[in-house]
Amino acid sequence: MKHSQFTVPDHPSLADDGGVIACVETTQIVAGALLLTMAAPAGLSRDALAGRYFLVRCVEPTPWAQAHDWTLPLRRPLFVAGWRSSLADVDGFERWVLTTPTLEDAGIGWLATRKPGECIHLIGPLGNGFAFPPRTQRLALIGEPSRIPALAPLLHATLDQGGSVLVLLRAAGALDKGLRSLLPFAVEVHQEADDTQWRTLVREAMAWADAAAAAVSTHEISALAEAARGVRMRIKQGVVQCLVDARLVCGYGACLACLTPLANGRWTRACVHGPVFDLASLRSEG
Ligand code: FES
Repeated sequence: MKHSQFTVPDHPSLADDGGVIACVETTQIVAGALLLTMAAPAGLSRDALAGRYFLVRCVEPTPWAQAHDWTLPLRRPLFVAGWRSSLADVDGFERWVLTTPTLEDAGIGWLATRKPGECIHLIGPLGNGFAFPPRTQRLALIGEPSRIPALAPLLHATLDQGGSVLVLLRAAGALDKGLRSLLPFAVEVHQEADDTQWRTLVREAMAWADAAAAAVSTHEISALAEAARGVRMRIKQGVVQCLVDARLVCGYGACLACLTPLANGRWTRACVHGPVFDLASLRSEG
């Protein structure tokens, strides 16, 4: 089969279809999360808030493969874990760190085996990210270890403005060394698996924090809501924001794969109205 008439993108660029070609520099697995450092065209990182995501096509970014290779037809979401502006790099490209907490998926497995220099096709950034008041000084990050990298941009923003950060990890065993090395020394980290101890930790964190960002599985959201009620008597709007578990597939509100239940009994599409939601909109006052 002859494909020599096609130009294979081998550098970061904007694709003709409005997507982005980004090129892998490193792949890393930390605490069960895949982290990809990518070179990307300049000008997009200003929109790349924590909690926003890209949808990646798990196929070579050649016109032939894009048109004919449907081995992995659905795009996979990658969350923003960090970025560096093009001004910081002599080659004029931005650096993005993108992450997913899910490794047991054929598409993510494909991404994890990308070699440095290989390019992939992304659309995004999409969705609504975390939005805390700029004066937030005490921030708690709450989640399973594999989900914490998706909250990392919040951590750095808070430390940069002189604030403090507490990280609560819902996990058994010892703290993952790779994850600890990703977290700045100034960050206080606690890890707990026991239900009762975990609830106590979350309550204490909520009492201490001005704001909390959570990235937990769906069944943990009720525990968060209970802790928020225990500390503040009610779930106050704007204090706790959650990156929810949702199946992000199309990113445009069309397929309904990401339907998420709300406290008012309705459902919403996490891809366009989330995937970050205020806890008050996910759980009622109780
Ligand atoms: S991912 Fe398709 S509607 Fe949300």
